[in-house]
Amino acid sequence: MSILVIGSLNMDISITTARIPNMGETVTGTAFSTRPGGKGGNQAIAVSRLGGNVDFLGVVGNDMYGEILRKNLQDNRVSFYGNVSANTATGAAVITVCDGDNCIILNSGANDLVTPELITENAWLFQKADYVVMQLEIPIETVLTAAKLAKENDCKVIVNPAPYKPLPKELLNYIDILIPNEHEASLLTGIPISNRASAESALTAIRNTGIDTVIITLGSQGSIYNIHENIFFCEARKTKCVDTTAAGDTYIGGLTTMLEKGHSFADAVAFATAAAAITVSGHGAADSIPTFDEVERFMTVK
Ligand code: RIB
Repeated sequence: MSILVIGSLNMDISITTARIPNMGETVTGTAFSTRPGGKGGNQAIAVSRLGGNVDFLGVVGNDMYGEILRKNLQDNRVSFYGNVSANTATGAAVITVCDGDNCIILNSGANDLVTPELITENAWLFQKADYVVMQLEIPIETVLTAAKLAKENDCKVIVNPAPYKPLPKELLNYIDILIPNEHEASLLTGIPISNRASAESALTAIRNTGIDTVIITLGSQGSIYNIHENIFFCEARKTKCVDTTAAGDTYIGGLTTMLEKGHSFADAVAFATAAAAITVSGHGAADSIPTFDEVERFMTVK
């Protein structure tokens, strides 16, 4: 029983600012850091810290960042499969944190080398996986190839459509659970999400494309999800928000881990919500992801 995460590894170069500068303006920031990140790596680390067995398939460059990111996976008991490329730099993300929220500019680098061929070469990984989890910081044709292979191997497929890219029609046939945030859900549907009603409309519009289960994460508002025809809302947990980076990744890692362990969907959502609340209370991406025990304690206290 294991979870296979296929995706990106980035070095996150992050700074906190009281105000986003205008074009041509310089402002002084705080809390500068260079730390492990990447949606794929973060989700794999979340699975591992939250109690799941996880394999990771991705590509880094043959450089200092790549070495740090692979070591970080190893330190978190995530098995790394894939390549170290001699020709391309490791992925990097420039992150600005302001008022607890963040915006990110990504240099994909070696993540673009997570190709359909790499999936085929590592097809054996799908044979031992129950769940395959992907995001869109790797080429979309790779996500399609992997989702198809996952279905051939009876794996459940979870896709986090971040950053937003249009989803090929064929891919929709292979996705069991789609987890966009409110921005991605708006882009996928053309429905601006400003409240629970519009989130519900977007969720229904995505389900109408043929996807069985949809969760839209709504930041500090919580998340909205469906079980068959019924739509539910899960409030976010109140916590001090320092940096939202990797909150969505923690949610996805927590949800998948709980589902893989056989918990109900509602319990998995509640656990994922609590785990994400802990992540936003710390700085950085992978570094701020809690352990299973931390989430359990948090859920009993709060
Ligand atoms: O989801 C957060 C992640 O998005 C960051 O770690 C950054 O690398 C970007 O990929």
